[in-house]
This record gives sequence, structure tokens and C-alpha cells, in this order.
Amino acid sequence: HATTHYNFEVVETVYNRLCSNKTIMTVNGQFPGPTIHVTEGETIVVVVANKARQNITIHWHGVKQPRYPWSDGPEYITQCPIRPGTNFSQKIEFSDEIGTLWWHAHSDWSRATVHGAVIIHPKKKDDYPFPVPHAEIPIILGEWWKSDVQEVLSEFLKNGGEPNISDAFLINGQPGDLYPCSRKDTFKITVDHDKRYLIRLINTVMNTIMFFKIGGHNVTVVGTDGAYLKPFTTNYVAISPGQTLDVLLLADQKSHYYYMAVGPYSVAGTFDNTTTTALLEYRTTPSTLPPSSPRLPLLPESNNTLASADFTRKFKTLSLKNRPINVPTNPSTKLFFTLSMNTLPCPNATCLGPFGDRFSTSINNLTFDQPKISILEAYYKGTNGVYSGDFPSRPPLAFNYTEEFVSRELWFPANATKVRYLDYNSTVEIVFQGTNTVRGVDHPMHLHGYSFYVVGSGFGDFDEMRDPRSYNLVNPPLMNTIAVPVNGWTTIRFRADNPGVWLLHCHLERHLSWGMMMVFITKNGKGPSAQMDPPPPDFPRC
Ligand code: C2O
Ligand code: CU
Repeated sequence: HATTHYNFEVVETVYNRLCSNKTIMTVNGQFPGPTIHVTEGETIVVVVANKARQNITIHWHGVKQPRYPWSDGPEYITQCPIRPGTNFSQKIEFSDEIGTLWWHAHSDWSRATVHGAVIIHPKKKDDYPFPVPHAEIPIILGEWWKSDVQEVLSEFLKNGGEPNISDAFLINGQPGDLYPCSRKDTFKITVDHDKRYLIRLINTVMNTIMFFKIGGHNVTVVGTDGAYLKPFTTNYVAISPGQTLDVLLLADQKSHYYYMAVGPYSVAGTFDNTTTTALLEYRTTPSTLPPSSPRLPLLPESNNTLASADFTRKFKTLSLKNRPINVPTNPSTKLFFTLSMNTLPCPNATCLGPFGDRFSTSINNLTFDQPKISILEAYYKGTNGVYSGDFPSRPPLAFNYTEEFVSRELWFPANATKVRYLDYNSTVEIVFQGTNTVRGVDHPMHLHGYSFYVVGSGFGDFDEMRDPRSYNLVNPPLMNTIAVPVNGWTTIRFRADNPGVWLLHCHLERHLSWGMMMVFITKNGKGPSAQMDPPPPDFPRC
């Protein structure tokens, strides 16, 4: 049947939040942006027309884009920006993804307002491996900045310190009734008693892992990152920037109103700790008591690392006949990547980072330097001098990664644009090791072009002899974004079966802006044009 086309007009739109008006970049004037509904296996075309004054690119987060990195979107990695006044038609093929993913801008900090849900429905309507929900409710966690986000970005890059924080977290674009001028800006779900609802939760927040909880109810987690999970019940969830969660809510309580609440998880301490709320309203209840005001649910403490890590450690893939679990058992490529906060010398008189330096971030002690033309274009055309192929398999130096004070000599990374080649169909393992250089932080790591199995995680320095014994190679979760716990490690595995140029990065936007990214190029001996489909005619070149 015919391919469905969508028009995405990137425009500037005035929104009123927290008592004032502000112009933000949106798609089709909507914030959050339009929800895209597709069926498993479908291919769509999205025509992006940039009618704003800034560059933009659109990334399809968690969509593998088989042999077609042209539509992936990260600026200067797979394409140059869609400039104001120009268009780009992105073909997006959904292969085995199911459930919830999302799309977002991948150019400077514009993803703060340019994002939306992608819902992938099963081929046969309502063919879920769990009780069929009465209705589906997307819940997008976001943020509101009173200042311009691009100014926030250029400001902290200039002063070398931490970025300013946003003024409120949002639930579906609304801060909730505890904020000034926000009574009408409160998201509300209306439910019928004894019915089941599928909540599709997406964390689009720029810099914080989030806790989410519905007062008076447990939820059953059934999916994450476009894949099914073995169901488990919980009274709160933790969700990383980039990640999605599908949860079932059974409306079996007796009051008329309940609060939903959202709050940050952050060890760094720089976040907004006011509470964002939404309402759950029962249209019908068995109770004859008059409606009373809801109580705020108690979220885990904002520095509760275990509440975040333990929640994610409950994930297991649901085993289904038509979705085989194929965990690589004996990976042919073994990589060990350290994730570090760093500092670099201050170019001005004073910077606001530690000891007057400026912040940076690194993987294996390399801070990624964004090239001027895209790596994909350079690779496809065979242009020399844009990147080098020697991204290291291990950090240059082993040290006690998570000891309390990591020596200051280890604070300074090198700058480079390096990629790592992966042989087509090789099996890859990456151990991500968080370090305590400058300070330990959780890093939600996201890989483009693949989903990966999260086979294990723990605290402290990874021990090659001991830790692999704890791996789950039977039914580990299949994800695209995984939070590597502060001062801990996480191991992922995947098969490199998708030729192309694929970005790996931390999904905390400040860490990405400081350089915590690297690139994989998956190839066989045949040369790019034999493995990848050719670029589309309106591909934004550099
Ligand atoms: Cu959701 Cu490279 O990002
Ligand atoms: Cu990070």
C-alpha cells in the first residue's frame, strides 16, 4: 500500500507558560510536537520544511534505519543541517521496533522544544502480549526555559561552567497546578473505574534522569525503548533522557482524584526541585464519598542512586515466539569505554568550571571534535582529513576509575574526531565504565542504528574476572539508551548488522555539548555504496 507522508513545518511559535510569553521552535506549531502512529514494519516519509531562523535536523530516536543512515539526523555526523528556507524528505523504515519511541531535533539544543512521540502498533490491532488496554495515553516529560535555550548553550560553553537549569519540568507541555499562573496548564487523564490504560512515557528532558509516580496506584511495566519487557509491578519509575517506558495502569482505586508527580534524579545537585504534577481523574467510581483533593505522591529522594539503578535492573526481555532473543554469547569485538567528566584550560581569564578551568567530557579520554562536514558524507565520498579511524578500544591508561579522588593529571582529555570501524555482522561488547574524574555522574548512553542487550551492571571498577559471571545472557533487556550508574559500569552487546555511520553518545545534553560522543562505522570490504542505499536527492549536503 501507499507510503504515508507527513509534513513537519519547523516554525517559531509563541507559547505562554509560567506567567509569560515566549517564542519557541516547534513542529507545526505544536509543543510537544505531533505524535506519529505507525504499524510495525511500515515505511513513512516525513517532509521537514525549515521555516524558522535556525538550522535544524530531525533524529528518529531508536529507529534502526537499516542501511539508510541518511535519515538518522545527528548534525555533522550523518548530515549537514537543514538550513532555513530548505526542505529534506526523510524516509523512515521501521523494522522490528514495537511500542514507543520518539523523534527529536539533533542540532544544538533545539531538541528542548522540537520533539514528539512515535508509537509503533502491532500488525494486528490490539495484538499485545498483555491485557488489551482500554485506551493509550502518551506522557512526554519535558522542560520549560524562560530564557532562550540556544543562549543557555552558548553562555555555558563560553563561561566554561554548568548550564543554567530550566524553570520547570513539564508533563505533556504543562507544568501543573503547583506553579504560578499554571492552574489551567495542568495535564489531566480521565479514566473509567476498572479499566486498563497503556501509558507511553518518554523522557525528553535535557539533563536529568526523572522519577515518575502516580498517587495511590501501582503500574505494570511492559516495554521500554521500542521492545517488550517481562511485566513487573512497581509504585514508581525512573527514566533516562532518551528512554521510553510502556506501563499499564489499572484504574481500580476509589477516590475521584489522584496526582501524578515528576521529579529529578541527579547526584550533581544542579536541578530544579519544584514539583511538576498532573491529574488522574475518575469519571466513575464505586465510592459515594464526595471528591476530596489529591495527595502528592512521595517520589524517591532526588539523590537516590539505588532507586534509579535498581529500577532499571528489573528489566528482562519478554520471550515470545515471533521475537527471538539473540544475545551474542562470545563477542568478537570487546571494547572498554571510560566515561568521564573532564576539564580543559580556560581560554579567557576566568572560567566557571573546577579550579577556574572549563568543563569537558570524554570517552576513553577523547573529547569529540565536531567536524565541519558530516562523517557520513566524508565516508561515502571517500573524503580524507575529516576523521581518523583509530578510536581506541580501551582508555590510554588504566587507573582506579571510581576511587574517591582521581588525580588531577587524569582530568585533561585530548580532542579529536576519531571513529571505530566495526566489521559487518561482528558481535560487539562494550563495557561502559563511569569514572570519578572531576566528579562521578550517571551517563545515559545512547547508540544510533542499533538496539543492544544490557547484559549486566554494577558499582565500582569493572572486574574482568568477577563481573561477567553476573551477566544475564538469557533474557536481558533490549534497549537503545541505558543509564550507566554513577561510579559504576554497564555492559551491552549487539550484532553489527546495520551498515552505516552511527553515533554513540551520552543523552545528557550538557555532556553531549562537552564532547561525550564517538562514532561507529559498520562496513564490510565492499565499499559504502555496495552496503548502504544511496542518498536521497534532497539530502542536506555540507
Ligand atoms: Cu535521542 Cu543522538 O539521540
Ligand atoms: Cu553523561
